[in-house]
Amino acid sequence: MAAMSRRLQQQGRRLGVVPTMGALHEGHLSLIRRAASQNDVVIVTIFVNPLQFGPREDFARYPRPLSRDLRLAQAAGADIVFAPSAAAIYPAGFQTSVEVGALSQGWEGRARPGHFRGVATVVTLLVHLTQPTNVYVGQKDYQQALIITRLLHDLRVPCRVRVRPTVREPDGLAMSSRNVFLTPRQRRQALILSRSLRAARAAIRAGERRASRLLAAMRRRIRSEPDVRLDGAAIVDAATLEPQQVLRGRVALLVAARVGRTRLIDNLLVDVS
Ligand code: PAJ
Repeated sequence: MAAMSRRLQQQGRRLGVVPTMGALHEGHLSLIRRAASQNDVVIVTIFVNPLQFGPREDFARYPRPLSRDLRLAQAAGADIVFAPSAAAIYPAGFQTSVEVGALSQGWEGRARPGHFRGVATVVTLLVHLTQPTNVYVGQKDYQQALIITRLLHDLRVPCRVRVRPTVREPDGLAMSSRNVFLTPRQRRQALILSRSLRAARAAIRAGERRASRLLAAMRRRIRSEPDVRLDGAAIVDAATLEPQQVLRGRVALLVAARVGRTRLIDNLLVDVS
């Protein structure tokens, strides 16, 4: 992979790279299509990264439909799929990790200790191996998108990070590889995440500026679904992820919840006038 990317770079080709863990859905495919429209060669990486899963998380049962993924990636415009084994990425003796500071500490970082160290380490490796001109990431994983942007900037990796909007099901549920774990009943109840975010956005547009009020309403809504366990709701500055009391500027509304055994996250960005 490294040799191929170096050769393509030397030929002056623009390389668009879309890092994924596979089980591709419309969210991933929208990134691939965008990459195809802005680059000469599109590389999709598929790697279920053991380093970013906690000991009690779903690494073992994470879906891995590789031949379907290859078909979908190609149809969306991928030229190369890089799907290395864990042993190729982390050979015996591997002991280096990459950690982004403050941005990694709160929210998902607190709920999933070590998660963002795993993400930052694998993204550093994947970028090193694929030599992107542009890297495509989704707003769906908002904190991760900020961390990847910070990481590549701090390490002076000469590429641009393109953060793309969240792709949703027609009813509003954010697409996720983990949605396949939901039973029909859980799938219905999971809608409360995007609904609570939209309600908060509507309240902000109607003039509410107090985070405490907005968060109380979001929590109340989410708790009204019996199979949904709220893991966290926050309103933060969209650039720093610092909590806000009185909303100003661009804010991110974040929610995380467990629906049955499946952990889901969602977010919305709102420009507060
Ligand atoms: P994965 O969950 O497979 O997501 C790969 C990319 O697709 C991420 O940038 C994610 O934000 C984006 N994505 C997921 N769902 C989306 C949606 N509904 N709309 C738009 N984009 C969406 O995120 C990871 O993998 C891993 O942590 C990775 C960055 C590959 C490192 O292992």
